[in-house]
Amino acid sequence: MGKQVKVVFVFGTRPEAIKMAPLITELKNRPLDFEVKVAVTGQHREMLDQMLQSLKIKTDFDLDIMDSRQSLSQITSRAMEGIDKILSKTKPDLLLVHGDTTTALSAALAGYYRKIPVGHVEAGLRTMEKYSPFPEELNRQIIARISDLHFAPTNLSKENLLRENISKEKIFVTGNTAIDTLRLTVKADYVHDVLTSMGDKRLILMTVHRRENIENMVRIFRAVKRLIREHKDIQVVFPVHLNPVIQEHAEKLLGEEERIQLIKPMNVFDFHNVCARSYLIMTDSGGLQEEAPALGIPVIVLRDTTERPEGVNAGTLRLAGTHEDTIWEVANELIISEEKYHSMVNAVNPYGDGKASYRIAESILYQFKKRDERPLEFDID
Ligand code: UD1
Ligand code: UDP
Repeated sequence: MGKQVKVVFVFGTRPEAIKMAPLITELKNRPLDFEVKVAVTGQHREMLDQMLQSLKIKTDFDLDIMDSRQSLSQITSRAMEGIDKILSKTKPDLLLVHGDTTTALSAALAGYYRKIPVGHVEAGLRTMEKYSPFPEELNRQIIARISDLHFAPTNLSKENLLRENISKEKIFVTGNTAIDTLRLTVKADYVHDVLTSMGDKRLILMTVHRRENIENMVRIFRAVKRLIREHKDIQVVFPVHLNPVIQEHAEKLLGEEERIQLIKPMNVFDFHNVCARSYLIMTDSGGLQEEAPALGIPVIVLRDTTERPEGVNAGTLRLAGTHEDTIWEVANELIISEEKYHSMVNAVNPYGDGKASYRIAESILYQFKKRDERPLEFDID
């Protein structure tokens, strides 16, 4: 066997930590094949640390760049400068970034400037709408241009990349690592205060945090208040993102409402287990659109577009838009019709089988000529 492949992970936010965690473990468990370094930008601070701690991820570098109400340019410039120093010191064979955050874009660009090969985990998601989600859609398109290896979670994401003239030799369909993490977190005998306090009520788990949704929050929250008032047997739990703008809106518009609990962000073990026991999820989160179908929980997507059409096609996700009436209508229909509700519960999970990290590791080894055969890809069929 030749020398190890030296891999540096760079990420900075809550969802990246959750989705990179199983891949870090997979590579670290193969010390003969990989030397692994983990660098975080700290684009998120408390929410990242909460995940690093609960998922037991040890970091080698932490740039600690977060500032309250930081701008996108501020994140980009601070992250790039810090990542460049890390890359110059570590000189990896491969830099791994995830998804579509500003940390991921900054890291990919810093890697490119040093001519370090970049591997993109969760590649190929697209809405093709420049400002939806903002700035994530353009972030991931730019990362795709830069990347040398593309780990696409599904066949649809692979097709998106092929349409952008990315060579098929460089694309590996792996499933989403989010499902690998879920296999670790969800337990049959889980108990949590949120669940015990629910009694017989139906739990609607809600999260809203997207930049482009800030101006829609008044309408989204009005729809939720109307549902609560009309259905006395439902209760909403909303772990509020630490963005101060979101905190202010949530407190002002929902703070006094009966049967709406605003709580702190939950650690991923608690959150996944509460998800698994929810009646319904209402969200603009990306990750939740992948996890909820795997758990068989219907999701109302509080957005106008989604880069995750697989869940819509499978019947577990419904795109409700951001208008009060449409959100209320879609949610109300599910609450009053058992048939409609159960048709969503029974849908299949299109996003993965829990082996994405294994496939990514094997694909890297193949690319670095430590495997003769191209690894088998994830296929829902
Ligand atoms: C970022 C990602 C988004 C992802 C989201 C996950 C970009 C452009 N966006 O958006 O794709 O869906 O993370 O949650 O990269 N804050 C804290 N403590 C924390 C985290 C955030 O106080 O632990 C506050 C800060 O004031 C910060 C603000 O939240 O300015 C916004 O954070 P930022 O990382 O800029 O954007 P997100 O909306 O979280
Ligand atoms: N999540 C969590 N605790 C919470 C809310 C969300 O652990 O209080 C997890 C969720 O299960 C998913 C990820 O955080 O894995 C999603 O993060 P977020 O919605 O912030 O970002 P997005 O997925 O939209 O980029």
